Amino acid sequence: MALKNDLILRTINGEKTERTPVWLMRQAGRILPEYRAVRNSLSGFKELVETPELAAEVTIQPVDILGVDAAIIFSDILVIPEAMGLKYEMVEKRGPHFPDTIKAASDIKKLKIAEASDVQYTIDAISVTKKELDGRVPIIGFAGAPWTIFAYMIEGGGSKTFSKARRMLYSEPQLSHELLQMITNSTINYLKGQIEAGANLIQIFDSWAGILSPELYQEFALKYIEQICDAIDKVPKTVFAKDAYFAREWFGKIQCNTVGLDWCMDVQESRNLIGADKTLQGNFDPCILYSSEERIKEEAEKMLVKFGPTRHIANLGHGVYPDTDPHKVKFFIDTIKRFKH
Ligand code: CP3
Repeated sequence: MALKNDLILRTINGEKTERTPVWLMRQAGRILPEYRAVRNSLSGFKELVETPELAAEVTIQPVDILGVDAAIIFSDILVIPEAMGLKYEMVEKRGPHFPDTIKAASDIKKLKIAEASDVQYTIDAISVTKKELDGRVPIIGFAGAPWTIFAYMIEGGGSKTFSKARRMLYSEPQLSHELLQMITNSTINYLKGQIEAGANLIQIFDSWAGILSPELYQEFALKYIEQICDAIDKVPKTVFAKDAYFAREWFGKIQCNTVGLDWCMDVQESRNLIGADKTLQGNFDPCILYSSEERIKEEAEKMLVKFGPTRHIANLGHGVYPDTDPHKVKFFIDTIKRFKH
């Protein structure tokens, strides 16, 4: 099916486009009242993730309401640990929780390498979304990076330090590699399934990249992201590793097409480190969306000038915060779309 809006894909190819494309990390869910209406009619977050027609509906909402240039499939990075055998719960207002965690080799023995069919609900949600979007915008498939998934599986939920997970890297390096490899293989199977179902590009979220030293990151994180990028060859790949300043030069050398930047990363410095042949994505501070329209416009245009007219996908430097006014988000998107380089 031909895409009616392929701005993002042309930008990834390095083509000069009529304008800079834009989408937002965490655009599905979080901010839209239309999302909450669907969400509140159900038992919880997981029911929404696991019901393909509804997941497709909330995936498409930001395309209709906000006018973004891509739809990111509504799911969560934590479906992979669950598909491997470690169930998660989404606790209202508190976030994810794993009743069981990985502490020793015997826990890893109970896990399996997931197939895409173990996450069939998200694969089906992509098929439904594809049909309903009818080529209006590309679909972004996604997964967590192995290190970030590992961190949740060891820690059992969110944490400021993920000290249990980092401790594991030092005390049980072999075991850590064994688990990271299983997560990587599962993620490759899952992403391939997403692409077969219709994902036009994929993004890997390494949300907890910034808590590892460069040495640990190279050994326990980068290597597995590289394996994923090498295994996925049919669609473009974006790597977003929050706070991983030290990894930018390395990302310039791996088989990914786009590198996501957070708002603390300097654009010119990142461009120099990553190189001219990758596309950059980002990096508006989500907090600017709390300020006046005047300020949002000023800062958005400043960002567009910094990145320049090619090889830039406008986005936030991390997910949009849940209490952001959707009108301000729409204003940001319209500002990007109106800007002429
Ligand atoms: O809009 C989208 O981007 C699509 C869907 C999406 C969700 N989670 C839905 C969700 C995506 C891409 C994610 C990724 C994700 N999930 C990450 C990586 C990106 C990042 O923000 O760093 C991480 C670390 C998670 C794990 C996770 N899921 C946490 C920590 C939480 C609780 C707090 C929160 O909202 O982020 C979730 C729950 C979650 N995932 C919600 C949504 C819409 C909110 C739950 C609800 O509606 O009840």
